[in-house]
Amino acid sequence: MNFETIQVEVNQGVGIITLNRPKAMNALNVTLTREVGEAVDAFERDDNVGCMIITGGEQVFAAGADIKEMKDQNFVDLYSRDFPYIQRDCWRAIDDARKPIIAAVAGFALGGGCEMAMACDFIIAADSAKFGQPEIGIGTMPGAGGTQRLTKAVGKAKAMELCLTGRMMDAEEAEKAGLVSRIVPAAELAEQAFKTARKIAGHSRPVVMLVKEAVNMAVDADLQDGLKFERRTFEATFAFEDCKEGMAAFAEKRKPEFKHC
Ligand code: HXC
Repeated sequence: MNFETIQVEVNQGVGIITLNRPKAMNALNVTLTREVGEAVDAFERDDNVGCMIITGGEQVFAAGADIKEMKDQNFVDLYSRDFPYIQRDCWRAIDDARKPIIAAVAGFALGGGCEMAMACDFIIAADSAKFGQPEIGIGTMPGAGGTQRLTKAVGKAKAMELCLTGRMMDAEEAEKAGLVSRIVPAAELAEQAFKTARKIAGHSRPVVMLVKEAVNMAVDADLQDGLKFERRTFEATFAFEDCKEGMAAFAEKRKPEFKHC
């Protein structure tokens, strides 16, 4: 895969997407969002990939939609495409992915950048990370999940304050608020995210996919529906060879050898 605004690689079952527009703080433009969508779709289809990472590298995750490219858009164009400016396929690809996607965030994750990180399954933050929805400062508002995912993650009070003021949260505040799973030193972000993704990729793939689906039910469904879904998926794992292998390996005190079936 050859891309203009992102770099991609597969290493030990992990598909890594690195946003690469350093001069524009990885601002999300049409090309970058199209390419992220294509890369996620390709990793989703690739049997060698069990988990993905989206990162902006060591300095910045993404400072939002590309304001310079976005500024001449008009309502009719946006409304006709049913999405604010950048490529809808990017968000569809992230939303539809059944393999887990980790966002590894250093530096600014603002506006559409924060929304992209939140669309992933969980966020590992460098201690340099800063999250925010500053759109109000340029006369607009979040358009790719900022008011919804942020509110579900951190609750109404903090989400309302952040969206209405444009204030940024540092990594510590974001972790306390439940937006990020954990904080690591900036210099270790890539390694820690990779280790986490490799661990996930090493588990039974169908079980990983069921777990992702079941946890997402907790966000989207009511508790009784979620509990029922979890019971059914738990029961379903007993149809997998990997389940037999995992339990046999435990009893025999050896490492399981998963075949992803
Ligand atoms: C285009 C951007 C950009 C952006 C930064 N740059 N953010 N270009 N779109 N969102 C560019 C700058 O123009 C500048 O280019 C270079 O990156 C470095 O930025 P500086 O501002 O000089 O750096 P700094 O002083 O460190 O400030 C960093 C910053 C600031 C706090 C992140 O750049 C900033 O406030 N950016 C905008 C953040 C924002 O409002 N995001 C929301 C966008 S709307 P030059 O060429 O001058 O060197 C949005 C809507 C999403 O995301 C809708 C749904 C998808």
